[in-house]
Amino acid sequence: MPLVIAHRGASAYAPENTLAAFELAHAQGADMLELDVQRSADGVLVVFHDTTTERWDGQPRPVDTCTLADLRCLDIAGATVPTLAEVCVFARESGILLNVELKQSDIVVPTVTLLRAYNLIDRTLVSAFSASALRKLSRVAPELSRGYLMGTRSYHPATRLRELWPFLALREIQATTWHPAIELPLLRQMLPRVRRAGYTVNVWTVDDPAVMRRLVAWGATGIITNKPDLARASLT
Ligand code: G3P
Ligand code: CA
Repeated sequence: MPLVIAHRGASAYAPENTLAAFELAHAQGADMLELDVQRSADGVLVVFHDTTTERWDGQPRPVDTCTLADLRCLDIAGATVPTLAEVCVFARESGILLNVELKQSDIVVPTVTLLRAYNLIDRTLVSAFSASALRKLSRVAPELSRGYLMGTRSYHPATRLRELWPFLALREIQATTWHPAIELPLLRQMLPRVRRAGYTVNVWTVDDPAVMRRLVAWGATGIITNKPDLARASLT
């Protein structure tokens, strides 16, 4: 059965990356929560997507220059920014799995420390676009599942090549999982091959039930979606 992975929680219906979105995703039957993690200026791991606060307060303040108190003042469509620790508590209480996306490459050690403190290592998949973060993760916590995110808008030849032929990159960082964007060229051809090479494959971000079913037929092991209710209804 493919995993239903709630992208920033049930973010089609509740403010993204907030406890409200995570609780709703759980209620809608998601197996796993996808969430974006960064470190605040005072060293707290927070759940927040953008590099600045501009979308929420109109000011382009980099997240890593804001304290937790600053970030807690943001109005995230009526909700507040949670800490990663708060999401860990929810994961322990609810039993839901976590997909923690590292949005900064220098937060590997504190993230692993927190996941260990909450005894969530075997219930968490850590993903990143950054090869250096994933490489470090494989050294610091080899027992943790690692997902290599691909599908940026970069036209750098090395990036394009890696996305068309992901095997070398997946092997180099000792990934367990490939996280391709649905828009990736040749996904139809590569998905079954990557599965046959022994990796799990979770595709982002898919809200159309017909596309979800097609991806599962090609071998996808998980669907990252803003609408976990639709995924649960169409994949069971
Ligand atoms: O995990 C897939 C997806 O979340 C990566 O892109 O920008 O939504 O964090 P973004
Ligand atoms: Ca993300």
